[in-house]
Amino acid sequence: MQLSLAALAVLLPIVAQAANFDVAVGQEGLTFTPPNVPAVPGDTVTFTFYPKNHTVTQSSFAAPCTPLEGGEHSGFRPTEAGPLEDTFVFDVTSADPAWFYCAQGQHCQGGMVFAVNPPAEGNTYETFVANAAAAESGPLPEGPEGGAPPAGPSGGDTSAGPSAPGPRPTPSGSAPGGNAPSGSGPNAPPATRPAGAEKFAVPAGGLLAGLIAAVVAL
Ligand SMILES: *[C@@H]1O[C@H](CO)[C@@H](O)[C@H](O)[C@H]1NC(C)=O
Repeated sequence: MQLSLAALAVLLPIVAQAANFDVAVGQEGLTFTPPNVPAVPGDTVTFTFYPKNHTVTQSSFAAPCTPLEGGEHSGFRPTEAGPLEDTFVFDVTSADPAWFYCAQGQHCQGGMVFAVNPPAEGNTYETFVANAAAAESGPLPEGPEGGAPPAGPSGGDTSAGPSAPGPRPTPSGSAPGGNAPSGSGPNAPPATRPAGAEKFAVPAGGLLAGLIAAVVAL
């Protein structure tokens, strides 16, 4: 049925893809793993907490260890033996960079910082790490702020553990945690989008019906 194939060819690119990035908080020392991710609006970043007592707190590039006004803050998530089941989800709504740190003690100054979409030049992740080392810690909000609601179309399995097993996306050039790399240079091109983490957004009803019809007609 050539017509159905033609219909599929037209419809398939319309099905949007959103990715989730799993980020471990404190699993490998005072680091976020991976330390930065490339994301597009519609993607999510799911933070899983490891011992002992960390936060995911949004800041600005200019003030790495101070909460961004109106930004996200997970609150402290202590755990004696990780991972903590209670994850923190950041909804990516913009292609702009977003900057984060751990607000515990001097963790931020020690390099425990994270970025969504850090630029490859200018305000790079590496410069953020370096700035954090010398930054003051700003006062925190009293409680957690923001965070996406826990359950989503594919995230309603909180009883089954913090995140699905399987390979994590690993940025090819991720900076070693805790060290402030030497500044410029062709560093840390962010990871490619995780092919395994794609999920299909549901297109408008008519489209979906058309897609199903096209598939069935094959
Ligand atoms: C976690 O750290 C915060 C801030 O330092 C502290 O107030 C809180 O008591 C800690 N929680 C645990 C269980 O250690």
